[in-house]
Amino acid sequence: MLIRKSGPEPLSSEITPEAVWQSRREWMARASMVAAAAGLPAWASRRAFAQGADELPGQPSREYSVMDKPTELKDITSYNNYYEFGVDKDQPAENAGKLQTRPWTVSVEGEVQHPKTFDIDTLLKLAPLEERVYRLRCVEGWSMVIPWVGYSLSALLKQVEPTGNAKYVEFTTVEQRENMPGLRYPVLDWPYVEGLRMDEAMHPLSLLVFGLYGKVLPNQNGAPLRLAVPWKYGFKSAKSLVRIRLVERQPTSSWMQAASNEYGFYANVNPDVPHPRWSQASERRIGEGGFFAPKRKTVIFNGYADQVASLYQGMDLKANY
Ligand code: MTE
Repeated sequence: MLIRKSGPEPLSSEITPEAVWQSRREWMARASMVAAAAGLPAWASRRAFAQGADELPGQPSREYSVMDKPTELKDITSYNNYYEFGVDKDQPAENAGKLQTRPWTVSVEGEVQHPKTFDIDTLLKLAPLEERVYRLRCVEGWSMVIPWVGYSLSALLKQVEPTGNAKYVEFTTVEQRENMPGLRYPVLDWPYVEGLRMDEAMHPLSLLVFGLYGKVLPNQNGAPLRLAVPWKYGFKSAKSLVRIRLVERQPTSSWMQAASNEYGFYANVNPDVPHPRWSQASERRIGEGGFFAPKRKTVIFNGYADQVASLYQGMDLKANY
């Protein structure tokens, strides 16, 4: 019930416990930081949500967002790994314009009670969209902070009812020969395939992503839908998904197939387990002063240990890299 009072409004700090008020203030500061990093004042970004066919707002999620300053939109969309469009960082932005993202379907199959092929527009409405600010740590030693728009992968997997035999999930990404110049080169055994253990896939942090910065995903970032698994190296976050298969045996990812001594199935961010050719102890945050800026220390599970460390209890993280 609303009770209208005369006189000056009480300060939020008078009517709300301080901890709640402080965290709300931090949250609002964070929300305007997201808008500022995109080059928009907060009011402008809110107004922009109401316009344009490519708008894809999500309800800001406090529970699953980090407070780090988001990387600028121009960096997120111009410094990419999407080898189907070329191996250089600027090639995906240059070449991905040709990717056909409509019509688009994703089949969810394998060890499930109800295998189903979903149209992208059905998927977009399957669960409420959230905006979650996640860290992305690439195995190459750089990182970004990205305001993704999507919902937990578990929402989709629950729809098809996994059977008791579903122990792993295999993700296959699109292969458009005529539109993807990188497919001419045997950099990987195409199509790009990744995998997660079932409990990792069902973890609420594992995100099915449809947008970033309140807009539909740019092609170079994995349109029309991709994964974001923030406690693992970026290569686990497969782009432009077309098939999700629940399976009994651990899938072989494209990177394991290419060099299993360098890229393991788990690929959890871990500063204590170096890549055979370089250390993983530190990282360069894109946008923070270029190559000469001081590096950041890499944190176990990319800073998500509180949420995910229990998934790996008793496991040797060096052997299971
Ligand atoms: N997915 C596909 N299909 N092809 C790729 O080459 N690269 C991966 C991952 N997903 C890749 C992919 C790697 S190595 C990283 S670090 C992230 O995408 C990069 O995502 P971003 O370009 O949106 O930052």
